[in-house]
Amino acid sequence: MPVKETGIQNVLNMSPGARAAFEAVGAAIRGDLAGLPAHDARDFQIRLERYWQDLFDGLKPPYGAREDFHVLLESLVRLLVSRYAGRSEELKALDLERDLTPDWFQSERRIGYVFYADRFAGDLPGVAEHLGYLEELGTNYVHIMPLLQSRPAGLDDGGYAVSDYGKVRASLGTMDDLRELCTLMRGRGMSLCLDLVLNHCAREHEWAEGARRGVAEYEEMFHVFPNRSLPDAYEKTLPEVFPETAPGSFTRIEETGKWVWTTFNAYQWDLNWSNPRVFLEMTGVLLSLANVGVEVFRLDAVAFMWKELGTNCQNLPEVHDLLQALRACSRIAAASVVHKAEAIVGPDDLVTYLGTDAHHGKESDLAYHNALMVHLWSSLASRDTRLMAHALGRFPEKPANAAWATYVRCHDDIGWAITDEDAAALGIDAGAHRSFLSDYYSGLFPGSHARGAVFEENPATGDRRISGTLASLAGLELAEETGDEALREIAVRRILLCHALIFGYGGIPLIYMGDELGLTNDRSYLEDPNRRGDNRWMHRPPMDWVRAARRSSPGTAEHAIFSGIRSLVEARRSTPHLHGAIPAEVVDGQHPHVFSFVRPHPLGPLLALHNLTEKTRYASLRVPRDLGITSPMDRINGRPLRLLGDDLELPPYGVVWLTQSP
Ligand code: GLC
Repeated sequence: MPVKETGIQNVLNMSPGARAAFEAVGAAIRGDLAGLPAHDARDFQIRLERYWQDLFDGLKPPYGAREDFHVLLESLVRLLVSRYAGRSEELKALDLERDLTPDWFQSERRIGYVFYADRFAGDLPGVAEHLGYLEELGTNYVHIMPLLQSRPAGLDDGGYAVSDYGKVRASLGTMDDLRELCTLMRGRGMSLCLDLVLNHCAREHEWAEGARRGVAEYEEMFHVFPNRSLPDAYEKTLPEVFPETAPGSFTRIEETGKWVWTTFNAYQWDLNWSNPRVFLEMTGVLLSLANVGVEVFRLDAVAFMWKELGTNCQNLPEVHDLLQALRACSRIAAASVVHKAEAIVGPDDLVTYLGTDAHHGKESDLAYHNALMVHLWSSLASRDTRLMAHALGRFPEKPANAAWATYVRCHDDIGWAITDEDAAALGIDAGAHRSFLSDYYSGLFPGSHARGAVFEENPATGDRRISGTLASLAGLELAEETGDEALREIAVRRILLCHALIFGYGGIPLIYMGDELGLTNDRSYLEDPNRRGDNRWMHRPPMDWVRAARRSSPGTAEHAIFSGIRSLVEARRSTPHLHGAIPAEVVDGQHPHVFSFVRPHPLGPLLALHNLTEKTRYASLRVPRDLGITSPMDRINGRPLRLLGDDLELPPYGVVWLTQSP
């Protein structure tokens, strides 16, 4: 592809290897490009040149040593051309818009909502009818939980066992319904986020069916072993994901007597990403869904995508290479799309998913801030913020062009990702603390206000993860049970504090369906034989529209929580300091009850203070003064601050976002 074709400088900046490959591929796809309208061919080339180095660098480590590497590159670029050609004019215009506003997902105006389509509104057309509710709440990033066709038997891990990536689950609607919903949402300035399960597919997927028949080509899509010898060798260093319900990471294939890698459940077969065909197929899937109008892909369970003997097969370097390559593909063929990594890993690995070292700023645009969520719950239980401040304070800075997805609860359990090192730095025994947290949130600990349950106890490690809705974990269920008004008031404050933290910390805050109304645990899953064994269903309640109607009735918890979150939305929207590119820097780690961070914006700093206890606490005004905030105003409620001498008074679970008064 001669440079003069686009006149763009990116070719000149490529490494020699990348440039040689680019020219070879360019020559091979000339015919494909000739089939496009001239302006499309030009735009595609500009995008390809811009992201070629990222793509090449991402693909080289996993596949570069293969003799057929050039075939992969050629087939991949052909695929990108064809998907780009299939993109609607409207979506191409969105691509252009996002080229000009690459920080669109980092905006302080971006606020997320997460739900299951069936539990929220029955099906996709039902969701379309309820967009007004999402708008009323102030959300514009809409994550609909897995909706592609999953295995028929009912046991489908909440949709994370996809049997056909090209179809929407029939009970939810059709691909056309999804396209229509995306169009409708786009018209309202809302972006749709969809799960793309990259690590595995269902045993009923056609590739797995082929492998079950023993067809070599399909077996190669998975990690299939003739006997237990390699699985046993791998098992030595593999952790258990579902130790109670799905112990081990390999499953015997009844039909062939061979063994297949199944990190999660026996019916979820891990894809073999060392086979370039898997890369091609999944890229094709992603871009087809992008052409339907999906704007954000939640890439599920990415930490597990690459396997290497003798390791825990999580967070391996090739995972980061693959994610960089995938993002480059999106940027080339569907530029308005961003990727969110679902990697619920230890704090030291978390930031790597936003791209560190050679991947800096090139990997995922978004990643879940699991550590923030875990430490929030930890501090709420211990009524002590010092461990949280220490752990988050030493967190490496993220790339400026990426952002966290911050959350209080999601559809999964809470695992206590608190490191031994962080705990030891504070003189805390990590194991004992994790055990305390499980006791606390399962309600075992004397005086606990929480009504959660232990999920997947692992006797070997002592891990006990926790299920439960935000409201139940925060004390609202107990308050409702006992009719205790004071407890209820405190629980509501706790729930609002949690939201204030995720709204202020940076990135897209994700409100999990029902939390805006204080929905408590749903125990109906116990009556469903397919769900009974998985208590995560207790915190996936169906939407209660009767309770939702109470959001307009002052005096109810629903009203207090919904309107409290609405105020946070308003405050966040008018606070540019909260743009996702601005880091959150933890300060004053010495205060045992108040967690604080600064967002250092060119307009001046914003200092956020959170009282994580049910007592009134005082924070020294020295901290804001040292930052130059001599005449503070609170951006959340706009009211004058209560001062006591040189201290600022924070009511129970009170939060302020201080900036200098104009
Ligand atoms: C992710 C999902 C979780 C699921 C797992 C396997 O962690 O969030 O719900 O069980 O992947 O797909």
